[in-house]
Amino acid sequence: MNTPRLIDGKAAAARVLIEVRKDVERLRAQDIQPALAVILVGSDPASQVYVRNKILRAEEVGIRSLEHRLGTDTSTEQLLDLIARLNADGSIHGILLQLPLPAQVDELRALQAIVPGKDVDGFHSENVGGLSQGRTVLAPCTPSGCLYLLEQTCGDLRGKHAVVIGRSNIVGKPMAALLLKADCSVTVLHSRSPDPQALCRQADIVIAAVGRPRLIDASWLKPGAVVIDVGINRIDDAGRSRLVGDVDFDSALPQVAAITPVPGGVGPMTIAFLMKNTVTAALMQQHSLSEAVCHSIS
Ligand code: GUN
Repeated sequence: MNTPRLIDGKAAAARVLIEVRKDVERLRAQDIQPALAVILVGSDPASQVYVRNKILRAEEVGIRSLEHRLGTDTSTEQLLDLIARLNADGSIHGILLQLPLPAQVDELRALQAIVPGKDVDGFHSENVGGLSQGRTVLAPCTPSGCLYLLEQTCGDLRGKHAVVIGRSNIVGKPMAALLLKADCSVTVLHSRSPDPQALCRQADIVIAAVGRPRLIDASWLKPGAVVIDVGINRIDDAGRSRLVGDVDFDSALPQVAAITPVPGGVGPMTIAFLMKNTVTAALMQQHSLSEAVCHSIS
C-alpha cells in the first residue's frame, strides 16, 4: 500500500479563507460590510476559546464581528430578545449562538428564533430540512469542512460507502445528509448499533464523531480507508494533558490511505466554513434585497 497521507486541515482552511477574503472584498466594493454576531451565554471555558478563535479569524478575513456575552443566569426570554434585535439589524448578516447553553435556556427555541437567512450554523429546522431535501442552504460548518477535505482527498465521492460514527445534530446527522447529497452510500452508527466494528470495516470513508477518545483503532478499518476524525478530546497522558481524536491515530495510520490528525485536521475547517457561511449569508441578503427592490419597481 502507498504511504498514508496526512490530511492537512490547516492548509485546506487557509485555501478556503483566501476565497472568503476575496468575497469580502467584492462585497465591500459594493459598500456591504459582512458582519457576524457571536453570542456566548455563560462561562464554559472551551466555548470561550472557540468564540475567541472565531472572532480573531473573522477579523483576519475582514468580517466585522460583534461579541455578545450574556451571564450564566440568562433566561430564554432575555436571549430571545437579543436574537430578535440581531434578526432586525440589517447590518448583521450572520448570527452564531455558541453551544452548549446553560441548562435553564431552551436551546431549541433559541436556535429556531434565528432567522434562517442569518443562521450561519445551519441549525434552524428550515436549513436542516432544506439540507435533507438536497437543497442549497446554509449547512453546518463542521460537516461542510469534512466534506471539503474528502473531496480534496478522494476526488469523486459518488458510490463510495461512507460510515458516520455518531448521530449528533451538529455533526453526525448533517454529515450523513451532505454525503448522501454527494451520492455516497451512507451508514450511520451509534451507541445502539450491534457490532459497529464489522460495519465500519466495510467503509471506504469513515467519519468519527462520537466524542470518545481513541475509540476507533485499526480493527475498525478496511485497508485503504480514508478517515476523518472530528473528535477533540482532552485526556491525561502520563500526567500531561493533551488533545486526541476519536480515532487511535497510531493504530489507524498503517491501515489507511489518508487520515486527519488531531489537532490540525477538522478543527480549522469548522471556523473557515463559519466565515464562508457568513459571506454566503451576506450575499443571499444582498440578492433578496435587490430582488425586493426590483419587485417594488416593477
Ligand atoms: N459548539 C460546539 N460546536 C459548535 C458549533 O459548530 N456551533 C455552535 N454554535 N456551537 C458549537
